[in-house]
Amino acid sequence: MAFDLVVIGSGPGGYSAAVRAGQYGLRTAILEKDPKLGGTCLHVGCIPTKALLHVAEIADAARAGSMFGVDTSFNGVDIPSVRKYQHGTIDRLYTGLQSLVKQHRITVVEGLGTYRGDRTITVAETAYTGDAGVLATGSYPRSLPGIETGKRILTSNEALSLDMAPHKVVVLGGGVIGVEFASIWASFGAQVTIVEALPRLIATEDPWSSKQLERAFKKRGITVLTNARMASAKETAHGVTVEITDGDTLDADVLLVAVGRNPRSADLGFEEHGIRLDHGFVSTDERLHTNVEGVYAVGDLVAGPQLAHRGFQHGIFVAEEIAGLAPLRLPDHQFPRVTYSHPEVASVGLDEHAAKQRYGDVSTAVYDLGGNARSQILQTSGGIKVIRAGTPSSAGPVVGIHMVGDRVSELIGEAQLAVAWEALPEEIGHFIHAQPTQNEALGEAMRALAGTPLHAHG
Ligand code: NAI
Repeated sequence: MAFDLVVIGSGPGGYSAAVRAGQYGLRTAILEKDPKLGGTCLHVGCIPTKALLHVAEIADAARAGSMFGVDTSFNGVDIPSVRKYQHGTIDRLYTGLQSLVKQHRITVVEGLGTYRGDRTITVAETAYTGDAGVLATGSYPRSLPGIETGKRILTSNEALSLDMAPHKVVVLGGGVIGVEFASIWASFGAQVTIVEALPRLIATEDPWSSKQLERAFKKRGITVLTNARMASAKETAHGVTVEITDGDTLDADVLLVAVGRNPRSADLGFEEHGIRLDHGFVSTDERLHTNVEGVYAVGDLVAGPQLAHRGFQHGIFVAEEIAGLAPLRLPDHQFPRVTYSHPEVASVGLDEHAAKQRYGDVSTAVYDLGGNARSQILQTSGGIKVIRAGTPSSAGPVVGIHMVGDRVSELIGEAQLAVAWEALPEEIGHFIHAQPTQNEALGEAMRALAGTPLHAHG
């Protein structure tokens, strides 16, 4: 069957490419191996995890009622009801996605697609050929040699459908997934230990953010073992025994393995038909074009931050490129990054080290949420660190913003505009930030960076 565009994979990268192409009147087919459209993000990633994090927030609020004079207590979570809420959320979004795809007359094919060369993908015996092809097959949880996942040793996929609230958990990997699940289970009342090989949690963030998060996790009773590796893990009748390389042994109900995600590029005919890979990632140029004429790759399949909104942007970009609109491609560091733990960590742009490498001189300011009225009302601690290029006397634009505290994810929009538009802190500090909002803290941090703080800052 012939199309203008054939997309393989229906996650954020794939479906946004298909929908955008449909909007430009291109005859488009989307091939999906799972029975439902939406990919990891909708079914076993962002959406179910963020739903669980919202349940965790409610559990924390129930526990904290008396602090605010409200007579509440936390008596545990009812997992079947949690799952019902989680799946209800997914189902509503899935229904919306189905209508979106239908509205744009996209042909949906269920089945495992295999690339056969010449922009042709087959599902079972049927061949789908496009004038252009988009590879959007995403990623899957990385496993460790010798460690088999099962009932007690989980990846994020299994953790999302666990039929109990564990009392004791070991989380291997202190990246975004490890931190979010550690936060969820601690809110549900579990004793949580994170084992991280590097010297700090969320090592891709500015070290200042890691420090803030580690401090907050310590206060919440979460144990963080850094510079630590797992030597072995064994499922037992009632749980799992984890041996750390320093000789310590940890017993837990479950072990979550969250050590990264691999691109899904093997056994799909990519390499066999000349598509160049690098460590499993599909190699592309800056226009997301692979080395094969007319074939593009998007999302987690392309090396860089594995973020759903990066997939969306890639998908839209490629569809516009195919439609001949010469779209603008954003560099990876301009994608906002959010870890939705309690507290949240949000950032955009460069960290201090990368900013120094790129610009030589940089100046920074940190504003503590202790001085922000809304954060005090919410009883959250944390802060905002802002970085500009240049010294105070040769002051340049804002190049990095790093925030830690409950609900700071809601500030990332303004932060992204500041970095992407290369705003000067003086300009942002001058804009009005409504009182009392946490947004004011961003305004104050900018004033501090411009050398004109109104309030005290750290
Ligand atoms: P990650 O790469 O963010 O973190 C994995 C961590 O595991 C690293 O800190 C690494 O040092 C550690 N590690 C690796 N091997 C280890 C070992 N043997 N022992 C101890 N520690 C070990 O990967 P993660 O957390 O699995 O997430 C995968 C991807 O999904 C990331 O790119 C992440 O950004 C993305 N994601 C984004 C979310 C968001 O935007 N909120 C939510 C969930 C995932």
